[in-house]
Amino acid sequence: MLASGILGYSAETLETIVKGGAAAVVTKSVGLKPRNGYANPTVFQTNCGLINAMGLPNSGIDEFVKEIRSAKNVLNVPLIVSVYGFSAEEYATVAEKASIAGSDAVELNVSCPHVRETGSEIGQNPEVLAEVVRKVKAVVSKPVFVKLSPNVACVADVAETAVKAGADVLVVMNTVKAMAIDSETAMPVLSNKFGGLSGAAVKPIAVRHVYDVYEKVKVPIVGCGGITSWRDAVEFLLAGASAVQIGTAVATEGSQVFKAVAEGIDAYLNRKRFRSVKEIVGLSHRK
Ligand SMILES: Cc1cc2nc3c(=O)[nH]c(=O)nc-3n(C[C@H](O)[C@H](O)[C@H](O)COP(=O)(O)O)c2cc1C
Repeated sequence: MLASGILGYSAETLETIVKGGAAAVVTKSVGLKPRNGYANPTVFQTNCGLINAMGLPNSGIDEFVKEIRSAKNVLNVPLIVSVYGFSAEEYATVAEKASIAGSDAVELNVSCPHVRETGSEIGQNPEVLAEVVRKVKAVVSKPVFVKLSPNVACVADVAETAVKAGADVLVVMNTVKAMAIDSETAMPVLSNKFGGLSGAAVKPIAVRHVYDVYEKVKVPIVGCGGITSWRDAVEFLLAGASAVQIGTAVATEGSQVFKAVAEGIDAYLNRKRFRSVKEIVGLSHRK
């Protein structure tokens, strides 16, 4: 699947991703009202991944439903709309509108590390997180994905809270809190100062969290964080993910990364004589 926030703004860009081999796509996170996001620079390339603080720029759900409808007309794969809010009611309103417009599932962004009073500030508070999930489940009959933050003491505990509140699927994980400072100007690089790290550097962190979450809950897990090759994806499957999302590697490798990863997984399964991906989900947990 395409991870949220990378080329997920419009039906056209999502179509490009599907042509590149993605089996499902997640949109950029959308909220109740339009937001401009932060001033540039919003993305910084390190030698091991990207640090971004976009500030959740989006057109607001009432405008975005047009893109959801057009995307549903042209895409032949499931469309998942990522939503955020500043309260449980806002999450529920946005999720309901996305679902009515044709989204096949909603993904709750309770893990964005750089916008105050939403994202990880919701996901770090068990009571608020549970209320968000319950309120969304009450108004949306489609599957509800909850995307977790690594920036908490125990991701598996947050996973358990989300599942008890009704989460159908967990996405592990969003970006890791990070920053970069320019030695010449002696100032933080990003306009927001702080951001979230993605890409190759975060993969071992994400694999570990998927492994932990798999031991704690029984719902399907979508692994996300630093996947660039088929071997990275297989590692996530062995840790316990049933599917994976790719974000940063779309920027570095192009949209064909999905096809390359899927074909590589197939070749691995054949070589190892597995009949299906299901046979390797969580395989590394065997005693
Ligand atoms: C530029 C950029 C924008 C992102 N925007 C969002 C977003 O709007 N919502 C969200 O849930 N995650 C967002 N993410 C996080 C990614 O979906 C993903 O969880 C994270 O980057 C780790 O995966 P990756 O290493 O494959 O990129 C964004 C990441 C990047 C690099």
